[in-house]
Amino acid sequence: MLNTGSFRSVLNHCYDLDPSPKLAASMSDLYGKMSRVVSPPDWSIYAPYVKAINQLKKERNAVILAHNYMTPDIFHGVADFVGDSLQLAVKATEVDADVIVQCGVHFMAETSKILSPDKTVLMPDMDAGCSLAESITAEGVAQMRAKYPGAPVVSYVNTTAEVKAASDICCTSANAVQIVDAMDSDTVIMTPDKYLAQNVANLSKKKIVYWPGSCVVHELYTADELRAYREHEPDAKIIAHPECTPAVVAEADFTGSTSGIVNWIKRNGASKAMLVTECSMASNIADELPGVEFAKPCNICPYMKKITLENILYVLHTMSNQVEVDTEIARDARKSVTRMIDLSRELGL
Ligand code: 13P
Ligand code: SF4
Repeated sequence: MLNTGSFRSVLNHCYDLDPSPKLAASMSDLYGKMSRVVSPPDWSIYAPYVKAINQLKKERNAVILAHNYMTPDIFHGVADFVGDSLQLAVKATEVDADVIVQCGVHFMAETSKILSPDKTVLMPDMDAGCSLAESITAEGVAQMRAKYPGAPVVSYVNTTAEVKAASDICCTSANAVQIVDAMDSDTVIMTPDKYLAQNVANLSKKKIVYWPGSCVVHELYTADELRAYREHEPDAKIIAHPECTPAVVAEADFTGSTSGIVNWIKRNGASKAMLVTECSMASNIADELPGVEFAKPCNICPYMKKITLENILYVLHTMSNQVEVDTEIARDARKSVTRMIDLSRELGL
């Protein structure tokens, strides 16, 4: 496991990482994408890391795939592709690179490795997990199959490779309703997010049975909190992620994946918006949408926030933290993920 103290001394030997207002000023094009949420002194600290990472990416023929919940310095400074879980999974199949640095959580890096077994996939911090992925094992999937014989298992991509391998197909928050509806069965098993399953059940004709996992970030929001905000700010749009409880979703003007949230605001406009999701989401789109004032109730995902410019630079420098997936598990997991990607394309999602 990486140790912050020791990797900082390794990096300081090889790169000039001292804060530099001069360097920061010379990289004003990148800063322009985050100037509303990153202060000039902070940019002077980040700029040397951003420069070193972008240089090293070229030397290693590497690309950085970054989830929408990365901090703005990563999202705007070093990422080659950004997006929600579905977009990042699809991008992993398309990129022409030897190395993928997955800036997100571990299941996302595993998904990239499953889809691109010949590429080196690096994870800046191996401890960047996910409460949903940790809530179920392949044994849990087997228990659900025993309880509901014949029902297909639709597993959220927020699962380990073993769970994906034990499932019939994956889904993400961007396609869950359509994937469930496409199953050839009246009853569908969804794992591991009980709230996503309940939200899908409200929109689907299927009988949905589910595993009782939850997201430690999204389950914190309450309908009371949203109602109080709406009373205070009647013009604001409230936009939620489907990992929130059905009571929260019922209060929202729109519910969708992290990319669905961005697209909805761009399409519909809003002078004020409350994003009922992880904090960085609003920060990452603030400069692109200067006319929108964002209320950030701001629950932080402790796993996503383990990824930093420093550990990205370290793994690229040392080529450490390579993600491996057992060959047979990867083969079975690939079936579930590619079936989802193919079906999503067929359905025009
Ligand atoms: P998205 O697929 O919407 O990006 O969600 C992933 C996630 O982990 C949200 O908590
Ligand atoms: Fe997992 Fe929730 Fe963090 Fe997303 S926000 S990675 S679902 S813990």
